[in-house]
Amino acid sequence: MVIPMEVYEGKAKKVIPLDDDKVILEFKDDATAFDGKKKAQFKGKGWLNAQISALLFKVLEESGVKTHFIGVAGDNRLIVERLRMYPLEVVVRNVVAGSLKKRLPLEEGTELPEPIVELYYKDDGLGDPMINRYHAKVLGIGEDEVREMERIALKVNEVLRKYFAERGIILVDFKLEFGRNKRGEIVLGDEISPDTCRFWDAETRESLDKDVFRFDKGDLISAYERLYERLTGETPNRR
Ligand code: TMP
Repeated sequence: MVIPMEVYEGKAKKVIPLDDDKVILEFKDDATAFDGKKKAQFKGKGWLNAQISALLFKVLEESGVKTHFIGVAGDNRLIVERLRMYPLEVVVRNVVAGSLKKRLPLEEGTELPEPIVELYYKDDGLGDPMINRYHAKVLGIGEDEVREMERIALKVNEVLRKYFAERGIILVDFKLEFGRNKRGEIVLGDEISPDTCRFWDAETRESLDKDVFRFDKGDLISAYERLYERLTGETPNRR
């Protein structure tokens, strides 16, 4: 998503221009899965994802990771730095789940000896294919830029894995998106929420993320609320 000068509406968020330096990210209650083939709405999801993203961006900033986060602007909205986004999804995995099962002969739930980083090209028409550094170069994204995104992604993993472990949650895998700010720095953008990560309860191994919707594992809002409570110690106000 190139952060636009006019309102841009994605599947789960809107990007609303504020000024030359800032945009508003508005989190919607819409959920999609499997390239938009499965769709639903969950009242309160936008609020939960905005709050959880804000909290995790703050945790990362405190650990020295540069993010686009500036502040919370009302219920479902964050104010963030305007970035020129790379058309990439950077996925980090600690435990075997999801599409990794189609790539390696390992069972769901197997802990990886070290994290795996994957790149995907954001293109709905192509179904967001997995790519490597050579493909990225053809797309105009240099090897140094890819290496920098991978370096930041692994740092995010280190910080968040520990943060979640301390709260009884396994950070199974997650997806990040990056952009460049006015000063040319590569900065973490987009969101970090249960829509874009897999979180398992360390004891029961229950999903506290969008897999609840993808694979009909129960009530999405109660799973996201349980995650919110674990992170903040507070019960979210039902909206
Ligand atoms: P995967 O196992 O389906 O490849 O997903 C890996 C991680 O990336 C998982 O935490 C969910 C997240 N993800 C997104 O945020 N957006 C996507 O479009 C996909 C396919 C995965």
